[in-house]
Amino acid sequence: MSSLIPNSVDQTVVITGAGSERGIGRATALRLASDGYAIAVLDLDGAAARRTVEVIAAEHGVKTFSAKVDVADGASVAAAVAAIEASDLPAVSGLVNNAGITSPTRFLDIELDEWERIFRVNVTGTFIVTKAFLPGMIERGYGRIVNLSSVSAQRGGGVFGGTHYSAAKAAILGLTRALAREIGHHGVVINSVAPGFIGTDITAGKLTNEQRAAIVAEIPVARGGETSDVANLIAYLAGPEVGYVTGATFDVNGGSHIH
Ligand SMILES: NC(=O)c1ccc[n+]([C@@H]2O[C@H](COP(=O)([O-])OP(=O)(O)OC[C@H]3O[C@@H](n4cnc5c(N)ncnc54)[C@H](O)[C@@H]3O)[C@@H](O)[C@H]2O)c1
Repeated sequence: MSSLIPNSVDQTVVITGAGSERGIGRATALRLASDGYAIAVLDLDGAAARRTVEVIAAEHGVKTFSAKVDVADGASVAAAVAAIEASDLPAVSGLVNNAGITSPTRFLDIELDEWERIFRVNVTGTFIVTKAFLPGMIERGYGRIVNLSSVSAQRGGGVFGGTHYSAAKAAILGLTRALAREIGHHGVVINSVAPGFIGTDITAGKLTNEQRAAIVAEIPVARGGETSDVANLIAYLAGPEVGYVTGATFDVNGGSHIH
């Protein structure tokens, strides 16, 4: 069995939550398409997912797939896996679990349904989608999985999300580390990315100018993060050179959390 698929044009990377126009997922999808990968976008917003792959196909000419998928719904994810397998896309070599939601609700005001919604999308969604694509990677002896955590997990919030978001993103770190141990010998590596403050629609309209300025004032590189800052890191973690790196957490926070 080959332990390395050498050529990005023979590989597909699946990216969840890459519909959002100004989001980390779309920037990552575009970056990976520029490297030659075929791209599959799964997003709750099916029209947005389609727009992402239209832009990708026009700019990079790679094979694409998009579907309206709720990562927290096993049947929805299973249908997408079947559709990808039936398509003319090359084998899935990479998965970026990027779909996520946040909320700034203070702890005592969080109702159980909000707590569960944050965990359902961020944590259970990552579990469901990873479980769906991992068997194919194991079978082929090669895989790259990247999970989106957050600096919130590392320093106990302090950017935007509340305790539920911080706890959910910390769960991602534990899941990533434990799964890395289980699957490393199959040629599949899995790592977490922990972005700091990145200007996307996840906080759009929800932060005052003063709040934004206070966040940026604490960042050593003296600016908010760009989606490309995260996308470039993910591109490395989804690529062939990362084979001896697994279970790790990669900070991309402008130095806002140095530990
Ligand atoms: N922006 C930041 O500052 C920041 C910082 C740290 C971590 N993150 C994480 O990075 C990831 C991307 O964040 P972003 O800022 O680009 O967010 P975004 O809000 O711009 O995009 C999120 C995307 O996920 C999709 N989505 C939401 N729920 C879904 C579901 N159940 N099934 C499928 N798709 C779903 C949305 O439709 C949207 O397209 C998230 O996991 C987020 O928690 C973001």
